Amino acid sequence: MPIKQDGEFITFTQHVQQRQATHAGASGQFSWLMSGVALATRMIGSYIRRAGLIDVWGEHGTTNVQGETVQRLDILANDALKKTLGYRGNVGIIASEEDNEPRVLQEVTAEDSYIVMFDPLDGSSNIDVNVSVGTIFTVFKNPHNIPGAAQSVLQSGLEQVAAGYVLYGSSTVLVYTDGHGVDMFTLDPQFGTYLLTRDNIKMPVHAPQYSVNEAYSHTFPEGYRRYLDWVKLQDSPVYSSRYVGSLVADFHRILIKGGVFFYPPTNKAPGGKLRLMYEANPLAFIAEQAGGLATNGKDRVLEIKPNDVHDRTALVIGSKKNVEEVHRFVAK
Ligand code: AHG
Ligand code: MN
Ligand code: MN
Repeated sequence: MPIKQDGEFITFTQHVQQRQATHAGASGQFSWLMSGVALATRMIGSYIRRAGLIDVWGEHGTTNVQGETVQRLDILANDALKKTLGYRGNVGIIASEEDNEPRVLQEVTAEDSYIVMFDPLDGSSNIDVNVSVGTIFTVFKNPHNIPGAAQSVLQSGLEQVAAGYVLYGSSTVLVYTDGHGVDMFTLDPQFGTYLLTRDNIKMPVHAPQYSVNEAYSHTFPEGYRRYLDWVKLQDSPVYSSRYVGSLVADFHRILIKGGVFFYPPTNKAPGGKLRLMYEANPLAFIAEQAGGLATNGKDRVLEIKPNDVHDRTALVIGSKKNVEEVHRFVAK
């Protein structure tokens, strides 16, 4: 059965290779790295699809460096990425939401060696109830002039070479940017391959939809509370709210349909809950490439200089006009 009526048939790896071919002196190493990420997500997706059948449900019995309960699938997903990237000779450093420290995989001296950072399983508390979860990743150049992995990883989001996420939803999709637009690939479960299904995605400029965990609103800074009061009074159009609790799923809906997601500072997480390096930066890169915006309620996410690899941030992300609406109340 043909994948698309027009006969177009581009795999993710082919897409990355074609893009690389346009860079002078490209060694092909980057597409080898990305094929490792894609392989890991196919492994993670297969664990998730069989989660009730194989013994992977539930808590691992530990807490991670973020102080959060680790699910068993968090560990499996983290291991899948570490193992597949471990065989890629051009990955110098990896940093994971689940690990205490960035890890030097190998001392790579080649010019084009990379740092890969990831949230192996995003929304992991949704696993046991069969709700969509994801994997988020981002790639930076490995700066050879800075000694020590802990310092090398502290780059602003503007330095990202490529970023993406996989959403394990009703279908499995990989959304990817290398700084030249956003493309989407769908996993063909029969072929075990990601195939290009949408290219150069642009977010709607505005949509009457917002996404926030409103149960915490009494602890949000006042501007967010005023926005939430304002948005409910709108009647042309009337706004609706959607909140999955898996950032990848909430963001993906906004990428396709428009609207805004925000996770403000709360009493529990005064600096915001979401992780700058593993969550906010990659999604901000994708949002901007799709014509949207991403801020911490004031400043552009991509310009934030991290102090620590596990830094957290407030996040307002989505359609340009929706983010601007939130800013009318918040960015004062
Ligand atoms: P993770 O599972 O990687 O720790 O991320 C969970 C995050 C994110 O996916 C989601 O947007 C947010 O936590 C939900 O937080 P609340 O439960 O506080 O709404
Ligand atoms: Mn996450
Ligand atoms: Mn996670």
